[in-house]
Amino acid sequence: MAHILHWITRASSGYPLMSTLVPLISQAEIADTVARLAQTLDQDYAGKSPVVVGVLKGAFIFLSDLIRQMQTPIQRVELIRLSSYGAATNSSGNVKVLMDLPPDLVAGQDVILVEDIVDTGRSTSVALANLAACGPASLKLCSLLDKPSRRQVAITIDYLGLTIPDRFIVGYGLDRNEQYRQLPGIFVMEA
Ligand code: IMP
Ligand code: MG
Repeated sequence: MAHILHWITRASSGYPLMSTLVPLISQAEIADTVARLAQTLDQDYAGKSPVVVGVLKGAFIFLSDLIRQMQTPIQRVELIRLSSYGAATNSSGNVKVLMDLPPDLVAGQDVILVEDIVDTGRSTSVALANLAACGPASLKLCSLLDKPSRRQVAITIDYLGLTIPDRFIVGYGLDRNEQYRQLPGIFVMEA
Protein backbone atom coordinates (compact mmCIF):
# COMPACT_ATOMS: atom_id res chain seq x y z
CA MET A 1 0.00 0.00 0.00
CA ALA A 2 1.21 3.48 -0.82
CA HIS A 3 2.27 5.79 1.97
CA ILE A 4 0.71 8.91 3.37
CA LEU A 5 1.52 11.83 1.11
CA HIS A 6 2.37 15.31 2.31
CA TRP A 7 1.45 17.68 -0.48
CA ILE A 8 2.14 21.37 -0.60
CA THR A 9 -0.37 23.56 -2.39
CA ARG A 10 -0.63 27.32 -2.51
CA ALA A 11 -3.57 29.36 -1.34
CA SER A 12 -4.73 32.05 -3.78
CA SER A 13 -2.75 34.48 -1.63
CA GLY A 14 0.37 32.48 -2.56
CA TYR A 15 0.76 31.18 0.98
CA PRO A 16 1.98 27.53 1.08
CA LEU A 17 -0.41 25.02 2.63
CA MET A 18 0.48 21.46 3.51
CA SER A 19 -2.15 18.75 3.36
CA THR A 20 -1.97 15.16 4.51
CA LEU A 21 -3.33 12.66 2.01
CA VAL A 22 -4.11 9.12 3.10
CA PRO A 23 -4.09 6.50 0.31
CA LEU A 24 -7.49 4.95 -0.39
CA ILE A 25 -7.26 3.41 -3.87
CA SER A 26 -3.88 2.66 -5.42
CA GLN A 27 -2.90 3.23 -9.03
CA ALA A 28 -2.83 -0.55 -9.54
CA GLU A 29 -6.33 -0.99 -8.14
CA ILE A 30 -7.62 1.82 -10.34
CA ALA A 31 -6.01 0.21 -13.40
CA ASP A 32 -7.63 -3.17 -12.59
CA THR A 33 -10.99 -1.50 -12.08
CA VAL A 34 -10.79 0.43 -15.36
CA ALA A 35 -9.76 -2.73 -17.24
CA ARG A 36 -12.70 -4.66 -15.77
CA LEU A 37 -15.17 -1.90 -16.72
CA ALA A 38 -13.77 -1.69 -20.26
CA GLN A 39 -14.10 -5.45 -20.68
CA THR A 40 -17.73 -5.43 -19.51
CA LEU A 41 -18.55 -2.51 -21.81
CA ASP A 42 -16.92 -4.33 -24.72
CA GLN A 43 -19.13 -7.37 -24.09
CA ASP A 44 -22.30 -5.34 -23.73
CA TYR A 45 -21.63 -3.08 -26.73
CA ALA A 46 -20.46 -5.82 -29.12
CA GLY A 47 -21.64 -4.92 -32.62
CA LYS A 48 -22.51 -1.38 -31.53
CA SER A 49 -20.68 1.90 -31.79
CA PRO A 50 -21.55 3.99 -28.74
CA VAL A 51 -21.27 7.71 -28.15
CA VAL A 52 -19.28 8.21 -24.96
CA VAL A 53 -20.08 11.37 -23.01
CA GLY A 54 -17.67 12.37 -20.25
CA VAL A 55 -18.55 14.81 -17.48
CA LEU A 56 -15.90 17.47 -16.96
CA LYS A 57 -13.83 18.12 -15.19
CA GLY A 58 -13.59 15.21 -12.76
CA ALA A 59 -14.03 12.37 -15.28
CA PHE A 60 -11.36 13.44 -17.74
CA ILE A 61 -8.63 11.08 -16.54
CA PHE A 62 -10.97 8.11 -16.02
CA LEU A 63 -12.54 8.72 -19.43
CA SER A 64 -9.18 8.79 -21.19
CA ASP A 65 -7.99 5.60 -19.48
CA LEU A 66 -11.34 3.83 -20.01
CA ILE A 67 -11.64 4.45 -23.75
CA ARG A 68 -8.06 3.34 -24.32
CA GLN A 69 -8.86 0.02 -22.65
CA MET A 70 -11.96 -0.49 -24.80
CA GLN A 71 -11.89 -2.47 -28.05
CA THR A 72 -15.39 -1.38 -29.08
CA PRO A 73 -15.24 1.20 -31.88
CA ILE A 74 -16.49 4.37 -30.21
CA GLN A 75 -18.41 6.55 -32.60
CA ARG A 76 -17.53 9.78 -30.88
CA VAL A 77 -16.39 11.17 -27.56
CA GLU A 78 -18.23 14.20 -26.25
CA LEU A 79 -17.70 16.24 -23.13
CA ILE A 80 -20.20 18.08 -21.02
CA ARG A 81 -19.42 20.18 -18.01
CA LEU A 82 -21.54 20.40 -14.91
CA SER A 83 -20.63 22.18 -11.76
CA SER A 84 -22.26 21.98 -8.36
CA TYR A 85 -19.45 22.42 -5.89
CA GLY A 86 -17.73 25.77 -6.20
CA ALA A 87 -14.99 25.82 -3.60
CA ALA A 88 -16.85 23.82 -0.96
CA THR A 89 -16.57 20.11 -0.29
CA ASN A 90 -20.34 19.77 -0.11
CA SER A 91 -22.55 19.81 -3.15
CA SER A 92 -24.45 23.08 -3.26
CA GLY A 93 -27.40 21.31 -4.84
CA ASN A 94 -27.37 23.96 -7.52
CA VAL A 95 -26.18 22.08 -10.59
CA LYS A 96 -25.08 24.28 -13.48
CA VAL A 97 -24.70 23.01 -17.04
CA LEU A 98 -21.59 24.83 -18.22
CA MET A 99 -21.41 23.22 -21.63
CA ASP A 100 -24.12 21.49 -23.58
CA LEU A 101 -24.21 18.92 -26.31
CA PRO A 102 -26.16 19.32 -29.59
CA PRO A 103 -29.18 16.93 -29.36
CA ASP A 104 -28.59 15.52 -32.86
CA LEU A 105 -25.31 13.98 -31.67
CA VAL A 106 -27.27 11.93 -29.12
CA ALA A 107 -30.58 11.19 -30.89
CA GLY A 108 -30.85 7.54 -31.90
CA GLN A 109 -27.41 6.68 -30.49
CA ASP A 110 -26.24 4.25 -27.84
CA VAL A 111 -24.94 6.65 -25.23
CA ILE A 112 -22.65 5.93 -22.28
CA LEU A 113 -22.37 8.70 -19.71
CA VAL A 114 -19.01 8.56 -17.92
CA GLU A 115 -18.77 10.04 -14.41
CA ASP A 116 -15.94 10.20 -11.89
CA ILE A 117 -18.17 9.73 -8.84
CA VAL A 118 -21.84 9.66 -7.92
CA ASP A 119 -22.17 11.40 -4.57
CA THR A 120 -25.51 13.13 -3.88
CA GLY A 121 -26.53 12.07 -7.39
CA ARG A 122 -27.71 15.55 -8.30
CA SER A 123 -25.30 16.29 -11.12
CA THR A 124 -25.62 12.81 -12.60
CA SER A 125 -29.40 13.04 -12.59
CA VAL A 126 -29.26 16.38 -14.43
CA ALA A 127 -26.83 14.97 -17.00
CA LEU A 128 -28.94 11.82 -17.51
CA ALA A 129 -32.15 13.86 -17.86
CA ASN A 130 -30.52 16.17 -20.42
CA LEU A 131 -29.26 13.23 -22.46
CA ALA A 132 -32.55 11.32 -22.20
CA ALA A 133 -34.38 14.38 -23.53
CA CYS A 134 -32.31 14.11 -26.75
CA GLY A 135 -33.84 10.70 -27.58
CA PRO A 136 -30.90 8.27 -27.48
CA ALA A 137 -31.47 4.62 -28.58
CA SER A 138 -30.05 3.62 -25.18
CA LEU A 139 -28.51 5.47 -22.25
CA LYS A 140 -26.26 3.91 -19.61
CA LEU A 141 -24.17 5.28 -16.78
CA CYS A 142 -20.59 4.27 -16.07
CA SER A 143 -19.06 5.71 -12.91
CA LEU A 144 -15.64 4.97 -11.48
CA LEU A 145 -16.79 5.59 -7.92
CA ASP A 146 -19.97 5.48 -5.86
CA LYS A 147 -20.37 7.28 -2.53
CA PRO A 148 -23.87 5.99 -1.65
CA SER A 149 -23.96 7.36 1.91
CA ARG A 150 -24.82 10.89 0.77
CA ARG A 151 -27.28 10.07 -2.01
CA GLN A 152 -30.22 12.43 -2.42
CA VAL A 153 -31.43 11.38 -5.86
CA ALA A 154 -31.85 7.70 -6.78
CA ILE A 155 -29.40 6.77 -9.53
CA THR A 156 -28.84 3.42 -11.22
CA ILE A 157 -25.15 2.98 -11.96
CA ASP A 158 -25.08 0.46 -14.80
CA TYR A 159 -21.29 0.10 -14.77
CA LEU A 160 -19.66 0.77 -11.40
CA GLY A 161 -15.99 0.68 -10.50
CA LEU A 162 -15.73 0.90 -6.71
CA THR A 163 -17.88 1.94 -3.77
CA ILE A 164 -16.18 4.27 -1.29
CA PRO A 165 -17.00 5.42 2.25
CA ASP A 166 -18.29 8.88 3.10
CA ARG A 167 -14.95 10.67 2.90
CA PHE A 168 -13.79 13.55 0.73
CA ILE A 169 -11.31 12.18 -1.74
CA VAL A 170 -8.89 13.67 -4.25
CA GLY A 171 -6.72 12.45 -7.11
CA TYR A 172 -7.22 10.71 -10.46
CA GLY A 173 -9.15 13.69 -11.77
CA LEU A 174 -10.96 14.56 -8.55
CA ASP A 175 -10.13 17.92 -7.06
CA ARG A 176 -10.41 20.11 -4.07
CA ASN A 177 -10.42 23.76 -5.15
CA GLU A 178 -9.10 22.57 -8.54
CA GLN A 179 -6.00 21.03 -7.04
CA TYR A 180 -4.80 17.41 -6.66
CA ARG A 181 -6.37 16.22 -9.95
CA GLN A 182 -2.92 15.14 -11.14
CA LEU A 183 -2.36 12.52 -8.42
CA PRO A 184 -2.34 9.05 -10.02
CA GLY A 185 -3.96 7.38 -7.00
CA ILE A 186 -7.01 8.30 -4.93
CA PHE A 187 -6.50 9.74 -1.45
CA VAL A 188 -8.60 10.80 1.50
CA MET A 189 -7.90 14.38 2.58
CA GLU A 190 -7.11 14.71 6.24
CA ALA A 191 -8.51 18.09 7.26
P1 IMP B 1 -22.97 14.90 -6.88
O1 IMP B 1 -23.03 15.30 -5.42
O2 IMP B 1 -23.31 13.44 -7.05
O3 IMP B 1 -23.81 15.81 -7.72
O4 IMP B 1 -21.46 15.06 -7.31
C1 IMP B 1 -21.03 16.09 -8.15
C2 IMP B 1 -19.55 16.10 -8.38
O5 IMP B 1 -18.91 16.42 -7.17
C3 IMP B 1 -18.88 14.79 -8.82
O6 IMP B 1 -18.98 14.53 -10.19
C4 IMP B 1 -17.45 15.08 -8.42
O7 IMP B 1 -16.77 15.78 -9.44
C5 IMP B 1 -17.61 15.95 -7.19
N1 IMP B 1 -17.36 15.15 -5.96
C6 IMP B 1 -18.23 14.39 -5.25
N2 IMP B 1 -17.61 13.80 -4.21
C7 IMP B 1 -16.32 14.20 -4.28
C8 IMP B 1 -15.14 13.93 -3.48
O8 IMP B 1 -15.14 13.18 -2.49
N3 IMP B 1 -14.00 14.54 -3.89
C9 IMP B 1 -13.92 15.38 -4.98
N4 IMP B 1 -14.98 15.65 -5.74
C10 IMP B 1 -16.16 15.07 -5.38
MG1 MG C 1 -14.81 19.17 -8.19
